Amino acid sequence: MAKTYWIVVLVLISLTGFTRTDNVPITETWQEKLVKKLLSNYDPDVRPAEDYNVTNITLKMTFVRVELDEDKYVFSAYGILQVDWTDDKLKWNPAQYGNLDVIRTNPDSVWRPDLVLYNNARGSDNLHYGKTNVLIYHNGKVLWVPPTDYHSFCELNLRLWPFDYQTCFLKIGSWTYDGFKLNLTASENPEIDISVPNNEWSIRKVTTDRNIVYYKCCTEPYIDIQYNITLQRHTSTHKAIVISPAFVIMLLSLSVFWLPPHCGEKIVLNAVIILIVTIFLIYFAQQLPAMSGNTPLIVNFFSTTLYLVAISTITSVIVLRLARTRHFQPPSRVLKSQLDGCLGSVLGVSSGSGTLPSDEDKEASGGENIGDPKQRDWLRVATLIDRLIFVIYLIIYIISIIYYSL
Ligand SMILES: *[C@@H]1O[C@H](CO)[C@@H](O)[C@H](O)[C@H]1NC(C)=O
Ligand SMILES: *[C@@H]1O[C@H](CO)[C@@H](O)[C@H](O)[C@H]1NC(C)=O
Ligand SMILES: *[C@@H]1O[C@H](CO)[C@@H](O)[C@H](O)[C@H]1NC(C)=O
Repeated sequence: MAKTYWIVVLVLISLTGFTRTDNVPITETWQEKLVKKLLSNYDPDVRPAEDYNVTNITLKMTFVRVELDEDKYVFSAYGILQVDWTDDKLKWNPAQYGNLDVIRTNPDSVWRPDLVLYNNARGSDNLHYGKTNVLIYHNGKVLWVPPTDYHSFCELNLRLWPFDYQTCFLKIGSWTYDGFKLNLTASENPEIDISVPNNEWSIRKVTTDRNIVYYKCCTEPYIDIQYNITLQRHTSTHKAIVISPAFVIMLLSLSVFWLPPHCGEKIVLNAVIILIVTIFLIYFAQQLPAMSGNTPLIVNFFSTTLYLVAISTITSVIVLRLARTRHFQPPSRVLKSQLDGCLGSVLGVSSGSGTLPSDEDKEASGGENIGDPKQRDWLRVATLIDRLIFVIYLIIYIISIIYYSL
């Protein structure tokens, strides 16, 4: 009995022994061995070079999406930054490690340059980089390609709104190392690979500058990389919303002067134009950030038009009064000479011209005055004023169009 018991136990032990040798857990891989060897004695907080040696760092930026917050003056750039450098402590001979020539590992386990955005708009939050793995090559080259998320302050100039370009910049450099320790260089042409287009802004141009700054205190240079990004606003909607109404308002305010001088609808038409212009000014106040200086030209145009239409209303009142009241005196000699002279004939109000208000119109202004030469002359004076101001306004508008389109 006891014998069979022992046999069973022995068989069981040998069986489990067999199964254990079948599923033998893999011993250390080459990668583990290598990482243990490279990183067991490694301090990721200390630059892996002698203090007098320089670490060369190259940057290559790819822009994936840009945004501009016009109210807060914040420019956001999302992209991918490719950083590489050489770490003398992370070298090995691939032949000794099963021909392993690259390993990928947690970025926190190796030293990385402290690259920050100098013109950061997020205050003390300067964690711009995603925590993606680093690649370490056997010759000590380290490659780190984190997704980045930069937010910088950007000075806006809305003078040409909505046809404006804005130039924002990103200034990237080491926060603590000077140029003798970290030698930053950037590839000339950053890539632009817009995957999700912004429907208001597109990138027009990106330039790269490598600035070397010497401060008064010290002899060492400080190096930073500056990307200037020129953004262009997409204007098709704004064209429809802003530019066409501006033309219509211009034409309407000019057409007021072609109503007959005794016609009270002049005032009504002007009031309608003033209302439209006011609505536009309110729209601009809501669309545009409050600015000091650099008022957009289009806003200047609308507020100037408001003044012009107000003046035109006042002259309409004067013209109406001249045309409608009954006069007992003829216009003064100076006025009369203007009417019949050069000015009158250029503006089409000299006595011979056929463009004067018809008898029917005059009837409306006071039937009993038909044929009264005094009344007729006063009507001509009113028409003269209307046409004179029409010409002045036309010139103002043409000049402002030329000025705006330059
Ligand atoms: C570090 O600097 C010393 C002295 O300038 C130089 O001889 C040495 O080659 C440098 N080492 C590296 C890895 O560049
Ligand atoms: C910095 O890097 C650039 C380009 O790699 C090189 O031309 C320059 O000599 C380096 N400067 C120093 C101080 O190592
Ligand atoms: C980038 O912008 C800065 C001003 O912010 C200017 O001094 C510099 O010349 C610009 N660089 C290029 C290449 O246009």
